[in-house]
Amino acid sequence: MNAPKVTLPQHSDNLTKLLATAGLTNQQQKYLRDFINRYSDRTKKSKQISQNSRPFLADDKNLGDFNLLFKEMYYPIVAHCSLGSKIWDVDGNEYVDVIMGLGINLFGHNPSFIKEALIAQLDKGIQIGPQSEVVGEVAELVAQLTGMERVCFSNTGTEAVMSAIRIARAVTGRNKIVIFSGSYHGHFDGTLIKANKVENNHSAIPLTPGVLPNFVNDVLVLEYGNPESLEIIKTHQQDLAAVLVVPVQTSRPGLQPKEFLHQLRELTQATEIALIFDEMVTGFRIHPGGAQAYFGLQADIATYGKIVGGGMPIGLIAGKSKYMDAIDGGVWNYGDDSYPQTKKTFFAGTFCKHPLAMIAAKAVLKYLQSEGSSLHQKLNERTTKFVAALNNYLTIEGLPLQMANFGSLFGSASLEISEENSAASLAMDLLKYHLLAQGVHLLGVSGYLSTAHTDEDINYILQAVKDSVEQLKSGGFLPSCASV
Ligand SMILES: Cc1ncc(COP(=O)(O)O)c(C=O)c1O
Repeated sequence: MNAPKVTLPQHSDNLTKLLATAGLTNQQQKYLRDFINRYSDRTKKSKQISQNSRPFLADDKNLGDFNLLFKEMYYPIVAHCSLGSKIWDVDGNEYVDVIMGLGINLFGHNPSFIKEALIAQLDKGIQIGPQSEVVGEVAELVAQLTGMERVCFSNTGTEAVMSAIRIARAVTGRNKIVIFSGSYHGHFDGTLIKANKVENNHSAIPLTPGVLPNFVNDVLVLEYGNPESLEIIKTHQQDLAAVLVVPVQTSRPGLQPKEFLHQLRELTQATEIALIFDEMVTGFRIHPGGAQAYFGLQADIATYGKIVGGGMPIGLIAGKSKYMDAIDGGVWNYGDDSYPQTKKTFFAGTFCKHPLAMIAAKAVLKYLQSEGSSLHQKLNERTTKFVAALNNYLTIEGLPLQMANFGSLFGSASLEISEENSAASLAMDLLKYHLLAQGVHLLGVSGYLSTAHTDEDINYILQAVKDSVEQLKSGGFLPSCASV
């Protein structure tokens, strides 16, 4: 059945009414009305697609909180195609992309070495059930690059984290885990939790409706980078199966607590608590060996995904044999009296080791191996320079935003926006829309550079920021030359 086509409503009257009740000045109302109309016109096919699919498609992805004021721009840009650092939307607009597949596309969009590997596999077919030809090779490559002993494959990062926690609990025989506030570990119920600030006893409460309190009773939420957290871990050591850590959080790339991580490693080693590094974003990004190599330590288990799948869905659980043997009972040989002796936990998934994911991962890992750490060095340096240039400009303008980076991940270091300062918050939301309107594809104020981004791309982004700020000044959303 063909979906009935819905036409976009004429919104100018509603918009005018809405703007008039939003406490904006006349100058701001006029500017915002013009901007919203321009933005909607520039991306009208994206908007139309959203409108047409909304009755059938339940999708809240990547849009941020709904703000009635920006309702007419609340839709995702629909991509038509991509290459290198660029994407093109269905309206024919070109963007320098800094979302980069939410951190997947370290080599830019559609790099030929991955595309060719995928096409070759498609020619051979997609065999799920029998083993993929390259799965052992991929595991070995991961072990070589990360220093981990054994590797197992899932389809997403969420599954990888969920399985890593299960393994840690199975092997240690303990129930509780520690996570740190500010860390995102995917959408497994067991990590969709936040600190219980009311009771202030490091216990956790569900982050969202539908997550049962029983699911989070065995989780402590501690402050990341705070030495007091180490003391709390010591107090609970007998009960702790694992400490789960995102070494550098996407939301706070400036927080890189090397000493804390080393102390955490020592403590968890001494108390036989599994240290799990969630390297979904940092893995294969900051260094070929991920954050562990960068900070000079080794976790017991690490979870990976994103980059390593080369655009295909993937999750990796890698770790010491002591833990990973819980997947298959441990290593054994033919022709002798060995057999799988370790007690197992349950692990499965129809799509695990999908031939397309495996072949893409092989291409990515081989490429990383052949390029060596200079690929990361150059890209990390380039991102650091980009962020320095951006910060320089933001400081000169007196804007309440400073950026930080961890390798090719960049994001807000200090967004000095309090709830009372709603003008600044509004300006920051508008900045995002202005950058999109200038052809910079981004979600919030964070993003990723890839090896495909050129100096020209970086200058383009910097200029777009400057132009957007000037426009926001002209609309009365930023003061002409004073702090917000
Ligand atoms: C640190 C971290 N862990 C886990 C996940 C979940 O991965 P996925 O979205 O592949 O399930 C993410 C996703 O962004 C992540 O950043």
